[in-house]
Amino acid sequence: MPRVSIEGTAKSFEVKTEDIIYNALSDQGEELPHGCLAGSCGACRVEIMKGKENLLPPSLIEQNTIDAVRLELKIDSTREMRLSCRAKVLGDVTLKPLK
Ligand code: FES
Repeated sequence: MPRVSIEGTAKSFEVKTEDIIYNALSDQGEELPHGCLAGSCGACRVEIMKGKENLLPPSLIEQNTIDAVRLELKIDSTREMRLSCRAKVLGDVTLKPLK
């Protein structure tokens, strides 16, 4: 089963393939920062430190929100940003919540 780990901590969670990151961690007691849980506010943004290839590609709504957040916060496009309330896991991933 895939694992989702949080950078800089010892926290690591086993999840099911195609689980949504936020939901899978919340079910195990780990509340990541969030807002709408619908892919539109960007409050759940995370940087993927390892395993970006182990996520399904972003949906249109996720990509649009990521693009807006990148512009607003001036986040370099070389940094892999995803929304934890939308991103689905296929394999091991390490992430860091973004302020
Ligand atoms: S919580 Fe609003 S986009 Fe994820």
